[in-house]
Amino acid sequence: MIYSHDYEQVPSNIKAEHSQTQQDGVHVTWSDQHVSFHPWNWVKSMAPSHRQEGVNAAPSKAPGWSANSWDEWAEARETDYKDVMDKNGTGMAKLTAAIYHYGLGFVKNTPVSPEATEELLERIGPVRNTHYGGFYDFVPDLAKADTAYTNIALGAHTDTTYFTEPTGLQAFHMLSHIPPPGETNDALGGESLLCDGFYAAEKLREKHPEYFKTLCEVKIPWHASGNEDVAIAPDATYPVIETESGLDGPIRRIRWNNSDRGVVPLEAGFDVVDRWYAAARELDSIIKSKESECWFQLQPGTVLVFDNWRILHGRAEFKGLRRMCGAYINRDDFVSRWKLSNYDRADVILHNMWQHR
Ligand SMILES: [Fe+2]
Repeated sequence: MIYSHDYEQVPSNIKAEHSQTQQDGVHVTWSDQHVSFHPWNWVKSMAPSHRQEGVNAAPSKAPGWSANSWDEWAEARETDYKDVMDKNGTGMAKLTAAIYHYGLGFVKNTPVSPEATEELLERIGPVRNTHYGGFYDFVPDLAKADTAYTNIALGAHTDTTYFTEPTGLQAFHMLSHIPPPGETNDALGGESLLCDGFYAAEKLREKHPEYFKTLCEVKIPWHASGNEDVAIAPDATYPVIETESGLDGPIRRIRWNNSDRGVVPLEAGFDVVDRWYAAARELDSIIKSKESECWFQLQPGTVLVFDNWRILHGRAEFKGLRRMCGAYINRDDFVSRWKLSNYDRADVILHNMWQHR
């Protein structure tokens, strides 16, 4: 391949003139006397038959999990802050593998400060800037016109459904929870809720394939316009469920936030509108079922990092003053960190045709 800053200057008649094979690859001498080297494993990886064998396929993810199986993979999702921050250790590999395969990870024994939390998250990938800012550190004071900045209960949802590319990862670290004057730490509320969107979507596909099809095929508008200076919408309408390939393929991404959702376009026809709401109600009932909901209490010192394309999050109402910090991270940056901490860099570059699921 020829690279040049000035395309007009690149001769169009350059050809391979000579090649010399070696044990580890092949040298090619081009007609402009440039010599290139191509390792055999790279040459093999370019062969269509090789690709069809699935050699370059991305590792598959863990199947959807529910409250019934939540305890079964507890060890896989927990890492220690020191291990993650150790550049020579295996903590980052374990954390990013848990997020890739299951959709989330907990980092225990993190220093209870916004600075330490931000440093940890920056190790995974650059913090994503949005209209909410970059790294967030907030109390429920409605500083932004968003329900996250209140103390009311929030149903399970994904964030930033209104971006062309919703944020890849989201992280929370509860720094403190101070009870109201005269009250104790008991029954302050604020338990966290997680639901595996892949599990819910798979259930829908299994029980009601026609509803699954509807939520895959009907594209709807999304928007963020709660703040005076913001009117964000994606570049196109997007469905609730996206798959890797067709209606039988693995689930790729879920968008689910009733507060950010537009209406189903009437041009689709009244029957489609009716079918979409029936399908949405069914998915909603699966998401809100006992088997889908995993509840736990966030603690100072434990950072939760999750895949916002897969995991729905929510919380119970709470009393008192809760200080929460965290950030968004782009999916591509996360996938890069996952690959580089779990695989040899040369192999990663070689297999860069892996789909970024
Ligand atoms: Fe949220």
